[in-house]
Formats: sequence, structure tokens, C-alpha cells
Amino acid sequence: MAIRIVKATVNEVNDIAATGRQSFYDAFHSIFIRKDELQKYLDSTYDVFKLANSIENSNNLFFVAYDNDKPIGFAKLKQLSRHQQIQSVRQTELQKIYVLKEYHGTGVSQTLLNKVLDAAVELQPEIVWLNVHVGNTKARRFYEKNGFSVAGKHYYIIGTQKFEFDLMSIAVGRSAYELKNISEPEGAAHR
Ligand SMILES: CC(C)(COP(=O)(O)OP(=O)(O)OC[C@H]1O[C@@H](n2cnc3c(N)ncnc32)[C@H](O)[C@@H]1OP(=O)(O)O)[C@@H](O)C(=O)NCCC(=O)NCCS
Repeated sequence: MAIRIVKATVNEVNDIAATGRQSFYDAFHSIFIRKDELQKYLDSTYDVFKLANSIENSNNLFFVAYDNDKPIGFAKLKQLSRHQQIQSVRQTELQKIYVLKEYHGTGVSQTLLNKVLDAAVELQPEIVWLNVHVGNTKARRFYEKNGFSVAGKHYYIIGTQKFEFDLMSIAVGRSAYELKNISEPEGAAHR
């Protein structure tokens, strides 16, 4: 395995669409009651023209993971995306992180998330937040390991079905530094 993470331009639009479609389908097709609604969601979300516009929007940052030249996942950060249940003004959303199932448990997702969080710190938000489906224990565990914690609830309707999500968030940049210094006074870690 030779993993590299690339900050995406429109040149990578097909790689994002293909890995997004496949990994969403594999992870979530079983929870959709109506397969036509799943299909419609995938067609709309991974429409290449729409996706290219989204990549070109300077408010968004996309990263693509490759194993040699094979696209195996992607992540999307959306700046200035405010969640009503979060007080902080400077919020960034980790809107998508999808890795092909053959690569779960290999560390690829961690490499991708590290890249995303490094980029988020440069954008200087106070909070990075995301929504994770309540049944998605693998993703939830992944986020918890990385310091995210549950901050609320979110409901999202696709077609005729209502899906329940946990809102998770993490303090980053300066706010994380301040929190660390409040909870860990100097020297406390060495006692
Ligand atoms: C969410 C995602 C990016 C996490 O990546 P990952 O490679 O699975 O992450 P990890 O290897 O850290 O695994 C997370 C946890 O899932 C479990 N897990 C990982 N691989 C597993 C496997 N093959 N079988 C069963 N459980 C597994 C483990 O409990 C692990 O936690 P642990 O390391 O403490 O034991 C990835 O699973 C994914 O793309 N899923 C599909 C799309 C998705 O759900 N995206 C997130 C939407 S919010």
C-alpha cells in the first residue's frame, strides 16, 4: 500500500464521485427502506457537474486518498457552516469522510482525517463539527478516538425517510489550546 492524500481540484471530481458513491452505498444501503430514494440521493449528491462546482467553491476543501493511483476515499471540509446547536461563531463542518470498505481498519482513514484536521487548524475555526448516523458505530468510534464528543442531535430527511444523527464536535486551534491549559495546569501531566 502506498497512500497519498491530495488536496482536490476539479481534476479529481470523478475520483471523488466514484469513491463517495461506492462507500456510501456499502455503508448505508441496508438502512434505506426505499432503494429508489437511495439511488436518487446518490445521483444528486455525486452528480459530477454539481460536485465540480462544489470543489471550485472556495468555502469548501476536498481531499482525496489514493493507494498508488487508485482513488480510495475522500473528505470534505465546509468552512462557515454553522450548526444551530453550537454556540461558537467560528465553526467548520467535516461534512463528509468516506473510505472504501476494503481499506477500513488500515489506517488510511486516520491519515485522511489528520490531513483534514491540519487544514482545519489553518482555517482557524474554534470548533469542527459533524453529523454521524446513530447506527454508524464504526464511524462514531473513529471520531471518539480522535477527540470528538457528542454535542447534540440532528435529523435529516431523504425522500420519505427520516434519519437520526448525533452531532459531534471537537475544539481545535486556539480554543483547544485554551481548554487543554484549563484542564491540565502546567506539570499536571507529570505528577
Ligand atoms: C468512518 C470511516 C472513515 C472510519 O475509518 P476506519 O478505517 O473504519 O476507522 P478505524 O480503523 O479507526 O476503525 C474505527 C472503529 O471501527 C471498528 N472497525 C474498524 N475496522 C473494522 C472492520 N473491518 N470490521 C469491524 N469493525 C471495524 C473498530 O472498532 C475501530 O475502532 P478501534 O480501532 O478502537 O477498534 C470508515 O469506516 C468509512 O469510510 N465508513 C463508511 C462511510 C462513513 O460511515 N463515513 C462517515 C460518515 S459520518
